[in-house]
Formats: sequence, structure tokens, C-alpha cells
Amino acid sequence: MDKSLVDAFGRQIEYVRLSVTDRCDLRCTYCLPRGYRDFAEPGDWLTFDEIERVMRVFTGVGVRRVRLTGGEPLTRHNLTELAARLHALPRLEDLSLSTNGVQLRKHAHALRQAGVQRVNIGLGSLRPGRFSAITGGRLDRVLEGLAAAKEAGMHPIKINMVVMKGINDDEIEDMVQFCIERGFTLRLIETMPMGATGRTAAEHYLDLQAVRQRLAETFDLLPAVMPGGGPARYMQISGTNLKIGFITPLSQHFCETCNRVRLAADGTLYLCLGQNDKVELRPLLRQGISDAELEETLRAAIARKPKKHEFREQPQKIVRFMSKTGG
Ligand SMILES: C[S@@+](CC[C@H](N)C(=O)[O-])C[C@H]1O[C@@H](n2cnc3c(N)ncnc32)[C@H](O)[C@@H]1O
Ligand code: SF4
Repeated sequence: MDKSLVDAFGRQIEYVRLSVTDRCDLRCTYCLPRGYRDFAEPGDWLTFDEIERVMRVFTGVGVRRVRLTGGEPLTRHNLTELAARLHALPRLEDLSLSTNGVQLRKHAHALRQAGVQRVNIGLGSLRPGRFSAITGGRLDRVLEGLAAAKEAGMHPIKINMVVMKGINDDEIEDMVQFCIERGFTLRLIETMPMGATGRTAAEHYLDLQAVRQRLAETFDLLPAVMPGGGPARYMQISGTNLKIGFITPLSQHFCETCNRVRLAADGTLYLCLGQNDKVELRPLLRQGISDAELEETLRAAIARKPKKHEFREQPQKIVRFMSKTGG
């Protein structure tokens, strides 16, 4: 029997974004509302044993890459232990982390030791006041986290900048310089209408095709390839090592090459970031489903993976926040 997961559109699924919590220690304007507390109960989170089991079955049918995400994954107690357990799965080739960086200083080294090779860090501004206005948090802590990740030998380190017109689009060139100086990769992201926060942020939507043209006026941009680059289309600035990824779900969607699904902290398997199709794995796991049945459930789920998101056609469709799905 074929041991890979292929959906109805011929896309091979080899990547799982694993949200370990929907909670977060920041409140980015485009993601989580200030004062929001309606989170999943910890008793409803998949345990580390349950996560490891689902991922073992997933790796048995071709998944090779896992990204730990959230919410803020570093707010989940003992994340390093989970990382080590996933890293020990024989067929897993790549374990990475998406974090806001706030608590990274104290965890970077242990995470690297546990097998987390690469890290993506959300950073919307290099100006302390503006950073705080966007996230509710402190920039210095994120900068310390970034330095710690570098010191721990994580590579590549990618900066995720959600670009918002009139909010931080005047900082893109500064961010380019910051990343050149430190050897980071830059990923510019278009706002997505996920939940009420995402829709409000979408009022500041900026088409990144225009940003690319703007950057080309200052820098000599060459097409580039980034191993594991996923949906970002990369350019390199000539004469530097800087690669810039453009994540353009709205202006130029990349659904035809989608290779991923998302497992939320409560065990909901979302088949597409921008659709509501899902399978609840937690009840099945807690009712004693066998590994063979779990594999069958995953196959049936992948067969239902939607063709594409409809962020443009139906911007009201997704009521859950990005932090719930695992961005
Ligand atoms: C949900 S966060 C989870 C990981 C971690 N807390 C972080 O901020 O990197 C993952 C990514 O989603 C992005 N994100 C959240 N809401 C978004 C939105 N409405 N549109 C575009 N990107 C969004 C964040 O900027 C971040 O890069
Ligand atoms: S983008 Fe990340 S850091 Fe910001 S609120 Fe969402 S989960 Fe938290």
C-alpha cells in the first residue's frame, strides 16, 4: 500500500504545523484581541503522549517536517521535552519553531539541544513604542531572544514581518538592513482575514507585489531558492546573503503547491488555514482508536483537503483567530 498522503488534487502532504497552545503572552493587533481570554482548557489540549502518537502515525505516512507553533508555543510548559520526543521520531527530518521570541532567551539553548534547528520569529517593528503598540509587549525581550537563538546555533533564523499599510510599511528597508547585519532571513507577510482581528488588520492590507517593486528601486533583487521555503517566494539582495521571502496569500496565492495541514492544541486537524474543514482527533484518541484506524482517519481527512482558501472571495468566512489554528 502507498505510504504517502496525497490529496484529491495530487498534493503530497509532508508537513504538519503543530499548535501546542492557543494561548499567548502577546496580543498582536492582527491576531488576538486585547483582553481575550476564551482559550481552550488545558485538559482539552492533546497531551505530549497524544501528540507524539499522532505524529508517529503521520510520519509513517510521509510527514517529514513539523513546526511547533501556537498561540505562543513557549508558553506551553516543558516544550523542550516535546521537541526532544518529536525529534526522536525516526522518519522526522525537520523540526522547527515559530515564536514571538519573548521567552526565547531562556529556552533557545535547550531547544537547540532538543533538535529544533530553525526558528521563525514574529517581529513587526524595530521601534520599541511601535512594537509595543502592535503587540502589547517589549521589543528588548524579543531582541534578546533573537540573539540567544543565534548564539545557540539555530539556522536559518527567519523574521516574520506582517506588513500593514500606515502602521509599519515605512520600516521595511530598516528591517532589510537589520537582517543583513545579523544574517537573518526576512519574510514579509500579507495580512490575512482570520477572525475579527485579521479582518481589521486587512484594512491595512498592502499588496506585497508593490513592496517588491519598491525594494527593487533601492536594492538589486535576484530570484532565490530557500530550502524548505514553503509558500514564500524568495528574492536575494545582490552582494549580500539576505534572502527576502514574500508570503502573498492574497495577491498571489500558492494553494496549488500546499503541502501541509495544521493540528490545533485541542486535537482539531484543520485541513486548510483558510477553510473550516476539520477533523476532531481528540475524542478518537481518548476513545481508544487503534494506530491503523488513526492512519485511516488521517488518510480520509487528507482526501477532503480543500482546493484553496477563499480569503479574497469570502473574507468573512474564518471566524477563528490565527492563534487557534496555528499560523
Ligand atoms: C499565529 S503566530 C504563532 C507563532 C508565534 N506566536 C508568532 O507570533 O510567531 C504565527 C504567525 O502568524 C502570523 N499572523 C497572525 N495573524 C495573522 C494575520 N491576520 N495575517 C497574517 N499573518 C498573521 C504572525 O505574524 C506569525 O508570524
Ligand atoms: S501572532 Fe503570535 S505573538 Fe502575536 S498574538 Fe498571535 S500568537 Fe501571539
